[in-house]
Amino acid sequence: MNPQPDFALRMRAIHKRFPGVQALSGASFDLRPGEIHALVGENGAGKSTLIKILSGVLSADSGSIELLGQPVTFGSPAEARRAGISTIFQEFTLIPSLSVTANLFLGREQTRGILIDIAEERRNAMVILDRLGVSIDVDAPTSQLAVAVQQMVEIGRALAGQSRILVMDEPTAALSPQEVQRLFSILRELAAQGVGTLFISHRLDEVISVADRITVIRDGITVDSRATREYDRRTLIQQMVGRPIEQEYPKTQTTFGEISLEVVNLTAGNVRDVSFSAREGEIVGLAGLMGSGRTEVVRLIFGADSAESGVITLAGRRVKIKCPGDAVASGICLLTEDRKKEGLVLHASIRDNFALPSLAQWSRLGFINQVEENRRFETHVLKLNIRISSPDQHAEDLSGGNQQKLLVARWLEKDSSVIMFDEPTRGIDVGAKHEMYLLIGELAARGKTIIMVSSELLELLGICDRILVMRRGRLAGEITDVRHSSQEDVMAMAV
Ligand SMILES: Nc1ncnc2c1ncn2[C@@H]1O[C@H](COP(=O)(O)OP(=O)(O)OP(=O)(O)O)[C@@H](O)[C@H]1O
Ligand SMILES: [Mg+2]
Repeated sequence: MNPQPDFALRMRAIHKRFPGVQALSGASFDLRPGEIHALVGENGAGKSTLIKILSGVLSADSGSIELLGQPVTFGSPAEARRAGISTIFQEFTLIPSLSVTANLFLGREQTRGILIDIAEERRNAMVILDRLGVSIDVDAPTSQLAVAVQQMVEIGRALAGQSRILVMDEPTAALSPQEVQRLFSILRELAAQGVGTLFISHRLDEVISVADRITVIRDGITVDSRATREYDRRTLIQQMVGRPIEQEYPKTQTTFGEISLEVVNLTAGNVRDVSFSAREGEIVGLAGLMGSGRTEVVRLIFGADSAESGVITLAGRRVKIKCPGDAVASGICLLTEDRKKEGLVLHASIRDNFALPSLAQWSRLGFINQVEENRRFETHVLKLNIRISSPDQHAEDLSGGNQQKLLVARWLEKDSSVIMFDEPTRGIDVGAKHEMYLLIGELAARGKTIIMVSSELLELLGICDRILVMRRGRLAGEITDVRHSSQEDVMAMAV
């Protein structure tokens, strides 16, 4: 008689090479039944590659996978799914034009005879979404949903598959704190039923609060794997980045200049009468729950959506912003939260992506100053520690976090006076976050006005000079004494 195996899943000494990059060179971990296991590491460490191998998207060059003690290889995602492994990838795989229901049951359509039983699917879709606490129209195409809701649908899709092993690559990146808590209680519930979860996240608070064990991957190799209680935050960070980080939230002291941006009674859609101003050198945070209007406000200022009413003044001069082009020309830029949709040209090279918005600035008489472009490009790649194998690599082959860094590098090149960031550190590792804070501080010290939307309250409290809190499309309050305020103070205004 075979003893019950201790491990639901075991990956040993996995190697994987891409042209020019050794993505994995000895990654291992094991997952026990009913365990929540976190996989952490820097951007480009190889986490996504490892789970793509596990879920049959990629094949390993060498190494082994065992499922309940049996060696397995998956030739396709469908094979892995049939073996009970359900994966939510870092980049969404929903089909935008299909309804929520159709996406939930894609590849597993519920049939009656030869027909898809749409009524049954709709009922089940509602049960699943209800369990996740999302109330949305199950017939709406997913393209109409906010990023956070799309992610919930992805999770619902895994639940619909009744899997034994759930793999999630940064599932919480786009969720609000409440949604994250709901997801975690679902994971615990599933764990109690014996479902093992492998979960990748750059949010260490979450990792520490939800995971039973943590595996750290650095440069494609497993460097440590231990029970969560054996780690403290500092050690974990040090293992991830390979060096100690003294201050997680460095704060640059700047002296403020004149009022550079003034917004009066900005109104459109959900956003009502938002007024505020910000000075040169000031870092202003925009906090609030998901859907409170933070993103809408920066999009309105940037001209990505059109305002019903409101006045925007830059350095004392009223500006008319009808489209992002107008905003960029007046010196306002926005780093968006949805890098796939609005940010990168995925099929173009990294170098071209970097150069896009600055082309006009660097070219003289229509020629692109290649030497200058290369020099600036290299500076940023070094500064933000962007992992690339060559500037000619396609943007889509970069790891998720490195795509985000590339976007930031791109806007930093524009000579803008107001720089707005929407969730700038989402999906980037703790070392790069630190670099990003230093960079934002440096921009402020150069007199730029920074507006920063973030769901990470610790980050806002750590680096902002002032925090505006939104609730249901309006400004609900303002925190001026940031150093002596807590997450609870912000939340109290937000709910
Ligand atoms: N299809 C591909 N072609 C070429 N290189 C790739 C490809 N996919 C990944 N890479 C490279 O392999 C390395 C590991 O990438 P991977 O996406 O696994 O990192 P990650 O740990 O998930 O990072 P992140 O936290 O940023 O998501 C990176 O250097 C990346 O650029
Ligand atoms: Mg990844």
